Amino acid sequence: MIKNIDNQACSIPRHVAIIMDGNGRWAAQNGRPRLAGHRAGVKSARRVVEACAEARVETLTLFAFSSENWQRPAEEVNALMRLFIEVLQREVSVLHDNGIRLRFIGARDNLPTILQKRIEDAENKTAANSRMTLMLAVAFGGRWDITQAIRQIAAKVDAGELKVEGIDEAMVSRHLSLALYDDPDLLIRTGGEKRVSNFLLWNLAYSEIHFTDTLWPVFDSVDLASAFEFFRQRQRRFGQLGNQKEAGAD
Ligand code: FPP
Repeated sequence: MIKNIDNQACSIPRHVAIIMDGNGRWAAQNGRPRLAGHRAGVKSARRVVEACAEARVETLTLFAFSSENWQRPAEEVNALMRLFIEVLQREVSVLHDNGIRLRFIGARDNLPTILQKRIEDAENKTAANSRMTLMLAVAFGGRWDITQAIRQIAAKVDAGELKVEGIDEAMVSRHLSLALYDDPDLLIRTGGEKRVSNFLLWNLAYSEIHFTDTLWPVFDSVDLASAFEFFRQRQRRFGQLGNQKEAGAD
């Protein structure tokens, strides 16, 4: 399906994270209501999921709804919740048939009960799949994630299971939502803004970041190939000198 990404010829990031921005502006440019932009955004997400699976990306994390998105007008929030429910109903079997494991990160207790149930069912149905993990960040915020990790750790200290001196970076990582997954290698943000917007604050510490003006509904496999080419050209040093990294000093 995707012709311009050759997995053998370029180094494909193992974990790709995307801030899908620009649905509303795309709708406005096309004289359509914002919900039409979100519907077009779902189609775009479908294309990108397919392209990433074909390129053998291991984990794709999509920022679908942030902690701050609750502050949008109730009408838009409700429409988005209904859209997520509809998308799960329609797409989970297709994802399952294609070997994709679906996982969710975020404050799921805040979501409508029916959506929580669909999420749980989708996770259970696809749990054994291993071709690619599609991680949907819904009601997610990086600060929320770090806060819930601190709470879990503090509760263990409180219960006498852990000493304060025993808390280190690895322990914090293990209590974050992406505990079982490697950090994203590449973050893509569409829609022209150049910020991280409270996404995976801890896990993006060393990610390469590719910003594009393309609005999410029209982001396609050619744009994805450009992002992968940008990634290929980066020399990832993780705070070391270039020659240390080349010598495998990490
Ligand atoms: C971004 O555009 C919109 C969102 C992050 C909300 C929902 C995302 C989708 C419907 C896309 C894919 C969904 C799934 C379930 C994979 P915006 O509204 O911030 O656009 P604007 O900045 O142009 O107003």
